[in-house]
Amino acid sequence: MTEHIGPVTRQRVIGGRYELVEVLGRGGMGVVWRAQDRVIGRHVAVKELRLPDGIADHEREVFQQRVLREARTAGRLNDPSIVTVHDVLNDAGTTYIVMELVQAQTLSELVRSRGPLPPQQVITLAEQVLDALSVAHAAGVVHRDIKPSNMMLLANGRLKLADFGIAQTIDDPRLTTSGQIIGSPSYLAPERIHGNQATAASDLWALGAVLCFAVEGRDPFERATTAATLNAVLNETPRLTRCPAQLATLIRGLLIGDPNARLTATQVRALLRMPDVTAPFTATASQPYSPTTATPYPGQPLTQFAARPGKRLRWLVVALVVLLAVGTGIGGYALGDTTDSAAPPTALAATVDYGSPDAQIPEFELGNGDCGDGQVVPGRSFTSNESVDCGSPHDFEVYDVSTAVASSSLHIQPPSAQQLDAEADSVCTIVFYSAWITPADKATALSYTALVPSSRAWQVDPDSSTGGTRQILCVLTSRDGSQLTSSAVSTNS
Ligand SMILES: Nc1ncnc2c1ncn2[C@@H]1O[C@H](COP(=O)(O)OP(=O)(O)OP(=O)(O)O)[C@@H](O)[C@H]1O
Ligand SMILES: [Mg+2]
Repeated sequence: MTEHIGPVTRQRVIGGRYELVEVLGRGGMGVVWRAQDRVIGRHVAVKELRLPDGIADHEREVFQQRVLREARTAGRLNDPSIVTVHDVLNDAGTTYIVMELVQAQTLSELVRSRGPLPPQQVITLAEQVLDALSVAHAAGVVHRDIKPSNMMLLANGRLKLADFGIAQTIDDPRLTTSGQIIGSPSYLAPERIHGNQATAASDLWALGAVLCFAVEGRDPFERATTAATLNAVLNETPRLTRCPAQLATLIRGLLIGDPNARLTATQVRALLRMPDVTAPFTATASQPYSPTTATPYPGQPLTQFAARPGKRLRWLVVALVVLLAVGTGIGGYALGDTTDSAAPPTALAATVDYGSPDAQIPEFELGNGDCGDGQVVPGRSFTSNESVDCGSPHDFEVYDVSTAVASSSLHIQPPSAQQLDAEADSVCTIVFYSAWITPADKATALSYTALVPSSRAWQVDPDSSTGGTRQILCVLTSRDGSQLTSSAVSTNS
């Protein structure tokens, strides 16, 4: 439906006070007007909330009460980074929210007209959204509708967040009994799709999706249908093609499906403050798939850590060890050596899948701390009786085994290969650079490989006798192909 945007021909005054002047825009809940406050003589924005057709009178009443309550909550927030709510009123059965008029483009408009933003600008954006969210979260207010169209970018570079808390009013199951989802679900955190309460963590998930939109220029989870969008939110990892490694790590950390494992605002802020986080990179974060990178799943290349300048990477990984330790279930690992070295740090050699006859490594029965002989490459298999003494020369050591976060109850469908790759990449990298792996020269002398369950192995119940698996294994080898002579894993667990 289109509506003429421009001056209204017939003067409309609501609440005996606000004269509607022109339509500024429209969204899923209604129309936003520029209006003149006749009492104070200033311009304001007025949001006219239109409920979907077929909603009974008593439900409209519930809705109005909730809008009032939420607007009062949002009205408590007094911060320059938050669009102020001045008033809420009802006129002839329609609810209006009167708010500060912001003469600015939304992030949505900006990216759609100009394309992706430079990473530097995206980092600034992230900082400002975090600041605004921190003010709200500290006051106990969850935004619930973080998305590009609710971010207004002023000419002076400052950002304002609009529509605080208002989304709760449309979340009421009594208003959505038709199953209708109002607005786009592509910024809805997975836990919300599962029916859980919106929390500060779900605002942060949405921030991750917004940063992805800003740096890539498109909605990361938007698909042709609502069902496909919801499925993408639950099961897909956005492909980051224009994103420096640090920003990609941050976005991935925000988009972790399990809200308990997701980066917190403090962690994100610490990542943003890291030295050189906004500097341009000499190498791209993602590289096209090629057989030499040995990523088994084309389309989602792993971050190529070897290509990063050493010092910056070292700091990033060290920070990540601290930041992600709790979230990824590796709490307790101490920091690794932070001394600088001129040599480039090591890389995640490859990710291979295992655990079923069709997998690259059909059988891999060695566990955490086990050592073995032979190359951990496609075509090989390793049974439990192939384990060798780590004190004798050996070719590899299993240095971490963890159950994929993607297997948490939040995931009703098997994760995509990309999701598992990304998780394995993060976990094996973080543990590798932690003090868990002791050799001082590990960054130059050692290499590591991640093993992820094949899709068939994933689907077999892990407790069944036929032995499915949902575990990610991290395997260490020497970089030059020589044998290792002792365990590289700390004994101080
Ligand atoms: N306070 C404001 N000042 C000026 N313009 C505004 C203000 N709030 C909203 N707008 C404009 O009105 C448009 C519609 O806003 P609205 O909040 O109704 O929809 P939305 O955020 O795009 O989507 P949804 O309804 O799904 O939340 C915005 O894109 C923006 O251009
Ligand atoms: Mg809005």
